[in-house]
Amino acid sequence: MINIALPKGRLGDKVYALLASAGYSCSSYDSSGRKLVFSDQQSGVSYFWVKPADVAVYVERGAADVGVVGKDILEETAPDVYELADLGMGKCTMCVAAAADWYDDTSRPLRVATKFVNVAKNYYREIGRDIEVIKLNGSIELAPILGMSDVIVDIVETGTTLKENDLKVYASIFPISARLVANKAAFKFKNGQIKKLVDSLSEAKR
Ligand code: PRP
Repeated sequence: MINIALPKGRLGDKVYALLASAGYSCSSYDSSGRKLVFSDQQSGVSYFWVKPADVAVYVERGAADVGVVGKDILEETAPDVYELADLGMGKCTMCVAAAADWYDDTSRPLRVATKFVNVAKNYYREIGRDIEVIKLNGSIELAPILGMSDVIVDIVETGTTLKENDLKVYASIFPISARLVANKAAFKFKNGQIKKLVDSLSEAKR
């Protein structure tokens, strides 16, 4: 059996559809219920529904052999896993955004609101700007509106959230998409199966 951690939600459904078309379908699969494990003896696969931010944890610890996780989470948490393929789904961009009339007052540290503390710290370290990080868990766009932060570091997909809150992008940090990752030991011991999965996925993507 190959154990696959899927990110719960819309992306997980899309990834499952790709995997199913690559020969890894699961007859009992149902993403609308509360069941978290689905196995199919015939396809030799077990799926686990995992919170997107936790996929890499399951893979790193070997509870799942492979998993699908966003590049945003890989950059933020730097898990000890192999990144095997870009699935070309869940595309968006990690950005710096702020109010349209924002200007950088370099006489003081920049207040940065974000869910992605390490991404923000790494980015501003590289460009040599002192910051004060304000860690939030969601609705990040509210922070500059209320004057709690100067900028945000956050994911932009369609740009609708920024637009509706009168914010704009000032810098793109990196592009994001869903990546297939593997546990390092599983990659050694289930190498044939994992390679077959990667090949079947790249075939199915065409
Ligand atoms: C994400 C992100 C932005 C929004 C971007 O939030 O943090 O707020 O999506 O998408 P858009 O460019 O298409 O508008 P999410 O929906 O995950 O909710 P959150 O605010 O709770 O983080």
